[in-house]
Amino acid sequence: MRTPIIVGNWKMNLNRAEAVALADALVAAIRAAIGGKNVEVGACPPSVYLDCVGHRLAGSPIGLGAQNMYHQPSGAFTGETSPKMLRDLGCKYVILGHSERRQFFAETDAEVFKKTRAALVHGLVPIVCVGESLAQRQAGKTHDVVAAQFQGSLSGLSAEEIAVCVIAYEPVWAIGTGVVATPQQAQEVHLDLRKLLLSRYNSRVASAVRIQYGGSVNAQNAADLLQKPDVDGALVGGASLKAADFLKIVSVA
Ligand code: PGA
Repeated sequence: MRTPIIVGNWKMNLNRAEAVALADALVAAIRAAIGGKNVEVGACPPSVYLDCVGHRLAGSPIGLGAQNMYHQPSGAFTGETSPKMLRDLGCKYVILGHSERRQFFAETDAEVFKKTRAALVHGLVPIVCVGESLAQRQAGKTHDVVAAQFQGSLSGLSAEEIAVCVIAYEPVWAIGTGVVATPQQAQEVHLDLRKLLLSRYNSRVASAVRIQYGGSVNAQNAADLLQKPDVDGALVGGASLKAADFLKIVSVA
């Protein structure tokens, strides 16, 4: 049985006081939202707030995560954050290869792969994002795009390494648009990813790796998505900025 994983991606939002207040609101109600269920929860604030948010989350069931990192442990890389630093701040997760990074910062699969490796070396759980654009979906290229991203960003990992990773299927057309993939659309691609895991690795890996869905997940649509057999959680953007909405998503997981 895969443990569902719900992670909030706060993106480049909130000021320091708001970030701390959101963390406090989540901590106050997270145990009730989880209930007796087996569900993993994470929150990924902007990097400058990792420290203060991490202090508020400490001792709670909510794991701290970053939204990006560079693959080198240290050195002359002005403006970058290393996996070592993220560990130092108590991070458990790091989101890698988010479509906004691929789109606005020209991140390539090869870079995502390097980052994923580095995250694993430093004991972080990489949440590696893949997903097609609207034009690609309309052209019938969803499978090819996701398979190519899997190939470039993940397939160089060993079986032991990939087993630690979380994959997030995030169709670009669903991110921040309010247009959520149907549970059936999500399930199809998740199953596709599981088949890719099976052909590159083995059945143990294919059945162990968790595949989250992301893209306009909210308190209303989460239950239907999470009911699908290969949807093992959600990466939540907009709705993670409201404690009540995020907690509701956790409670239906
Ligand atoms: P959204 O973002 O929930 O606001 O669509 C999801 C994501 O980009 O991770």
